[in-house]
Amino acid sequence: MASFYQDKVAIVTGASSGIGKQTSLLLASKGTHVVALARRKKLLDELAGQIKSGGGQCTVFVCDVTDREAVARTAKKIRTKYKAVDFLVNNAGYGRANSVLEESEEQIRALMETSYFGMIYMLKEFLPGMVERGQGSVANLGSIVSELVFPYFGPYSAAKFAVAALTESLHLEMKGSGIKISLILPGPADTAFFDDISWQDKRTVFPRVKPQEVAKTIVKALRTGKLVNFCPSYLIPVVWSYNAYGPISRKIVGVVGQPKGSTLARLLGRKT
Ligand SMILES: NC(=O)c1ccc[n+]([C@@H]2O[C@H](COP(=O)([O-])OP(=O)(O)OC[C@H]3O[C@@H](n4cnc5c(N)ncnc54)[C@H](OP(=O)(O)O)[C@@H]3O)[C@@H](O)[C@H]2O)c1
Repeated sequence: MASFYQDKVAIVTGASSGIGKQTSLLLASKGTHVVALARRKKLLDELAGQIKSGGGQCTVFVCDVTDREAVARTAKKIRTKYKAVDFLVNNAGYGRANSVLEESEEQIRALMETSYFGMIYMLKEFLPGMVERGQGSVANLGSIVSELVFPYFGPYSAAKFAVAALTESLHLEMKGSGIKISLILPGPADTAFFDDISWQDKRTVFPRVKPQEVAKTIVKALRTGKLVNFCPSYLIPVVWSYNAYGPISRKIVGVVGQPKGSTLARLLGRKT
């Protein structure tokens, strides 16, 4: 019997690195034709080479998801080439660990343009086709910071809250339509995400998960259509407790989220 993923077409944004790359490799290994989008052509070509050498299928398109015209042009090419898109993984994004006071307005807007509007543009291009056919799956990348608010994460967290809110609303709207809409909420994952300079004096409270694990969560969600998908799953009780003990949780997060070397961190005797 053919698997759920066999011979389907999946668009993965941000496929050149990290979680998007691992999701592309995993889908391709299951017989899905991967349509990989990102800005860095060289990395996309390497991904396509890796998939094809393993017997899989992959087509790449250089596309900046913040550029509405580029998304429209790319979408037109994809629609011409494939009769239907079955899966859409809105993964393109990046994070900066800075306060609103440290970030310029341009930097704050860019975070929102990539994670939130990038997702909106892709949905506008591909969701109507899914609705018309009465089938399809969408996975949107939120983050643990879509659920827990840490100090020095305001602008990034706000962009991921926006992704979460839109996804939940759409999930409810699509009930009974045959379209599955899922939100993926990874904790810190071991990717190039943390190369950004803003992370140098920040700590991640939770241990880092492998991007391959997040990819498994995404691929499973495309099949189940479950709304909320944490990775790793120990984040479920963490978020539950955070919400159940609101004021106390926020005090704890306020302390553990202080930058390295801050007065509070020094008073607590922390070296890192
Ligand atoms: N790593 C974590 O701890 C973590 C935790 C929670 C959520 N997330 C989310 O997971 C997603 C993937 O992050 P990652 O950890 O895999 O980081 P990564 O390794 O840095 O990958 C980010 C990907 O997004 C692409 N991208 C960024 N801006 C883009 C744009 N304007 N247009 C098209 N593609 C763009 C990058 O490709 P190009 O540069 O080639 O365009 C790259 O392929 C992001 O949405 C991130 O917010 C990550």
